[in-house]
Amino acid sequence: MQQLTLALAKGRTAKESLQILQQANIRFPDFHPDSRKLIFEDETKKIRMLYVKAVDVTTYVEAGAADIGIVGRDNILESGANIYEMLDLQIGTCAFIVAGMSPKPIHTYSSIKVASKYPNVASAYFDQHNIPVETITLNGSVELAPLIHMADVVVDIVETGTTIKENGLTILERLDSISTRLIVNKASFATKTACIQQLITAIDHVLPKEGK
Ligand code: PRP
Repeated sequence: MQQLTLALAKGRTAKESLQILQQANIRFPDFHPDSRKLIFEDETKKIRMLYVKAVDVTTYVEAGAADIGIVGRDNILESGANIYEMLDLQIGTCAFIVAGMSPKPIHTYSSIKVASKYPNVASAYFDQHNIPVETITLNGSVELAPLIHMADVVVDIVETGTTIKENGLTILERLDSISTRLIVNKASFATKTACIQQLITAIDHVLPKEGK
C-alpha cells in the first residue's frame, strides 16, 4: 500500500474522528490532543496524519498536500474546494441557520447586514433570495454581532441551540444540514485509487448503518 496523507480537523469532532479511525484499525500511537506535534504516523507507517485547523483542511486536500481530509461540511461548503466528498462520518451533526434579534422574516428585508464565520455561504444564501447583502466576517462568537447592532442577522451553525438561546436570538431560517465528511483530492483518487478505496471501505464498515 502506498502512503496516504490525511488532514484531520482539530476541534470539537477530532476525538470522535480519531475514535472512528481507531475502530477501523487506524491508530496513531504518538497522538495526544495536547501535543504540539503537527504530523503523526499510524502504526503501519502507511498513513501520515496532519493535525490542522478545520478551516484549513480543504486547502491541504485541494492542493494535494493531503490525499484525504476529515472535516465538517460547513468548511467544505464555505471553501468551495474542488475535491471529492466521499463519506459521511455521521458525527458533528449540526445545521447552518440564519438567526437574529428580531423575528422579522428574511424576505421582508430590502437589504441585510450579516455577520458570519462563513461569508461565502452567507452571501450565496442572500444572493439566492435576491436580498442585497453586506457581510461582516468574524472568526468566532458571531452571535454577539446582532446583540450590539453590528449586524441584522448571523449565518452560523447550530448544534445544541444553547448559544442561540443563551443570547436571546431567534432562528429565522434553517439552511443545509452539516456533518463531518471524508474528502479526497481528485488527483490522489486517480493515482492511489485502490488504497484510498480500501481506507474508505474500512471506515465505512465501522459506521452505523440504517436498520442495524
Ligand atoms: C460554534 C458556532 C456557534 C456554536 C453553536 O461556535 O459558531 O457559536 O458553536 O453550538 P450550540 O448550538 O451547541 O450552542 P464554536 O463553539 O465553534 O466557537 P466560536 O464561536 O468561537 O467559533
